Amino acid sequence: MKLQLNSSPRVCSTRNGISHNPSMRVPVLRSSPFEQVELQAPDPILGVSEAFKASKEPNKLNLGVGAYRTEELKPYVLDVVRKAEKKIFEAKENKEYLPIEGLDAFRKATVDLLLGPSHPAIKEARVAALQSLSGTGSLRVGAGFISRFLKGRTVYISNPTWGNHRNIFGDEGVKWEYYRYYDPETVGLDFKGMMEDISAAPDGSIILLHGCAHNPTGIDPNPEQWSQIADLCIKKKHIPFFDVAYQGFATGSLDADAAAPRLFVDKGLEVMVSQSYSKNLGLYGERVGAMVMIVGSKDVAERVLSQLKRIARAMYSNPPTYGARIAAEIVNDADMFGEWKTEMAGMAGRINRVRGELRAALESKYPGKDWSFVTSQIGMFSFTGLSPAQVDNMTKKWHIYMTKDGRISLAGLNSAKVGYLADAMVDSFKNS
Ligand SMILES: Cc1ncc(COP(=O)(O)O)c(C=O)c1O
Repeated sequence: MKLQLNSSPRVCSTRNGISHNPSMRVPVLRSSPFEQVELQAPDPILGVSEAFKASKEPNKLNLGVGAYRTEELKPYVLDVVRKAEKKIFEAKENKEYLPIEGLDAFRKATVDLLLGPSHPAIKEARVAALQSLSGTGSLRVGAGFISRFLKGRTVYISNPTWGNHRNIFGDEGVKWEYYRYYDPETVGLDFKGMMEDISAAPDGSIILLHGCAHNPTGIDPNPEQWSQIADLCIKKKHIPFFDVAYQGFATGSLDADAAAPRLFVDKGLEVMVSQSYSKNLGLYGERVGAMVMIVGSKDVAERVLSQLKRIARAMYSNPPTYGARIAAEIVNDADMFGEWKTEMAGMAGRINRVRGELRAALESKYPGKDWSFVTSQIGMFSFTGLSPAQVDNMTKKWHIYMTKDGRISLAGLNSAKVGYLADAMVDSFKNS
């Protein structure tokens, strides 16, 4: 074993009496097992922001991360969130642990938001709801539930999907496969392919569906298609697992955006749902969400919740209080709930407006190409159809940061930058 030591130690005493020499190199064991650790590539989505921050270009534009920005391209804290925070601050609540399942007022608010407060499943107490660490943590608890209680079943995810789905299920040891979703020819939904793949999946598979505003494509099934997907799940005894990360961001209406999971529950399906308040309440860093399961009876719901709690206990013990209090204050208070809806419609409206402006700019700069997909897609994202080489051109030549799959977040765009983005897209489509 070879140790490397500095030759002339200058010893300092610290407050706890332990002496050390600041100029001395600490010995490192040469045969460390950590030497084997390989460098992990940056996360494909969050890595885009890191690259954006590092760029010194004045024209740079970050369309990578799905976080809402104001027209000035600044992060946005909703007024209603500030109001709820003031109320919480004045109430001087303690910092005790929450129960494993989370804050009751939050769990009630979250289920009300998903199903509508007067839904029979709530009255029948057949909903198990666990407050968890936003959408990601909720999905992970759901994956843990699948690996323990739905052993051997495969989770089918759309191709493409939010990149973290693969990590979340894979890291829990849950097998996943793709079903067809995106049709590059039409830049639309490959509904036929999707139905064929869900049909071909073994009975009792888990079908992961985006509740609304599909990420990354911005393409959702229409109501008739949702109905057919639900009927197929019934026929095949599949378990739908809805990832609801953008409720309110597709249409600007919380109710309209919950139509798909509500339809499935109303058709009698048992449904797993992960919910997130990151986007719709702008609580990204507070990690606010829930894993919800609507099952056949109160008795089953109690048992399911007990197991979700057991999974969460070993993962993070209990969820954080602050963001859950904010969400509960807002959803459970009629006035604040109304204010939230107005602000939500404002955010969704701004995104829709820049969508329209982008389409118009693209049509005027490159009239020969069909740009209708820009406005037929919904939510925060547009899936442009740009190839990885074209995305490289967008970033290297135009300093527009976006994910390699050609997705742009319209939440990071404003009217002033529409023309610049359109120039970059046209150049990339034509010349790379
Ligand atoms: C489809 C989808 N699911 C889940 C999430 C999870 O987000 P969070 O963990 O912040 O709730 C995201 C975030 O971008 C997403 O796009």
